[in-house]
Amino acid sequence: MITLIVVLFCGTAVLVDAALGRSPHADEIEQLFQRPVNARISNSILIDAVLDVPLLVRKYRYPLEVHHVRTTDGYILGMHRIPHGRGRNNGADLDRPVVFLMHGLLSSSADWVLMGPGSAFAYVLADQGYDVWMGNARGNYYSRNHTILNPDTVPLFWNFSWDEIGNIDLPTMITYVLRHTGKERLHYIGHSQGTTAFFVMGSLRPEYNEKIISMHALAPVAYMAHSGSHLIKSISELSNPLYTLTRMVGIGEFLPNHKLVTWAGQVLCREKAISQPMCSNILFLLGGWNEDQHNATMVPVKLGHTPAGASVKQFAHYGQSMSEGQFRRFDHGSLLGNILLYGTPQPPRYDLSKVTSPVFLHYSPSDALADVRDVDRLFAELGRPVGKFRIPDDRFGHLDFIWGIDANKIVYERVINLLRAMDVHG
Ligand SMILES: *[C@@H]1O[C@H](CO)[C@@H](O)[C@H](O)[C@H]1NC(C)=O
Ligand SMILES: *[C@@H]1O[C@H](CO)[C@@H](O)[C@H](O)[C@H]1NC(C)=O
Ligand SMILES: *[C@@H]1O[C@H](CO)[C@@H](O)[C@H](O)[C@H]1NC(C)=O
Repeated sequence: MITLIVVLFCGTAVLVDAALGRSPHADEIEQLFQRPVNARISNSILIDAVLDVPLLVRKYRYPLEVHHVRTTDGYILGMHRIPHGRGRNNGADLDRPVVFLMHGLLSSSADWVLMGPGSAFAYVLADQGYDVWMGNARGNYYSRNHTILNPDTVPLFWNFSWDEIGNIDLPTMITYVLRHTGKERLHYIGHSQGTTAFFVMGSLRPEYNEKIISMHALAPVAYMAHSGSHLIKSISELSNPLYTLTRMVGIGEFLPNHKLVTWAGQVLCREKAISQPMCSNILFLLGGWNEDQHNATMVPVKLGHTPAGASVKQFAHYGQSMSEGQFRRFDHGSLLGNILLYGTPQPPRYDLSKVTSPVFLHYSPSDALADVRDVDRLFAELGRPVGKFRIPDDRFGHLDFIWGIDANKIVYERVINLLRAMDVHG
């Protein structure tokens, strides 16, 4: 690994040869942003775009461990750990509280590192003395594996939504982390779907609430009755028929051939247009941001790592949340289907009062996917809501929580203060 990185620093256009160690869209990034077409993009940015999470973190000289854990239903999940900070005062010899980070829809652990040291949350936490673990949901680039079901050939692999991510993946990963570190409890920080899945876990597997010192929901998503733009609304109305259709033709993975980036790139990002709004809009579709918070230089890195994979059913389940205005289990669409599975004609609600871990919500009034009214309702129904913090920038968008230029200053600093307070008093 080390030699590979050294070679990288000296090399130029062709970045990593090994199939291993590459980001989900490394091939497309190399095609798209190759010199001399895009001579303005630095080598360092290109390298960050094509390295996978372990190599990317090691490039910045932070320690990184890869852990695999198997769920009861056979999925093999990849976790990434930054056990401590770098440099002389890295805190390696201290007793460090554990923080577990969970990414959003179509994302991966890369979300927490791709903006680099000093900005990305995982590095900031490691430098502040935390033992940082990053989960990956079933089906994404680092968790696209199963003991029997081949994700490329067996559509049944993709028969899951964020219900299973919350009900099975999170408990499995959290149990593993606690066992491995010998701790009894940890902090949980989620973004977007990483918050949805947490609320699923807390309501369906309430015994896990005791294992959580504090939970921080960045851009919290549970109720979606007021979500979104017209575009998101129309997508949500289409999602059920779309789900049925894709199931009929045996497609379970969202954008299975990963060619979205190539397509978007060729149509929209050619020439020196990399900072052109249309080009970055392909990422914008994932949730939206505020242009002031958007670092256009980093577009290749974001495109190299995102989208990282998901099932169609995850979208269908969110579509149901939007059109039904409820936070409940997957609706199988037929009386019989629901009765067979749940014993009731309607899918059961996730009982938020059972989520008894201390929860802090961090939200923004201009987040298209977490409307203030929905956030208020969530807060009111949670079993132990502790704090609700409005981001002190009214134009902060859904993706700014992870990629925003000021995220460290206006979100992470507050979260870290709360973690400290909970470590002392919690
Ligand atoms: C998937 O898991 C199997 C069984 O643990 C392992 O042998 C294989 O190398 C894994 N494949 C990938 C692509 O990680
Ligand atoms: C897909 O998962 C659901 C929920 O666990 C289950 O009821 C259903 O039988 C599964 N579908 C197939 C084809 O196995
Ligand atoms: C944007 O990203 C580049 C490359 O990482 C960095 O050098 C620059 O300082 C960033 N700009 C802002 C405003 O943070």
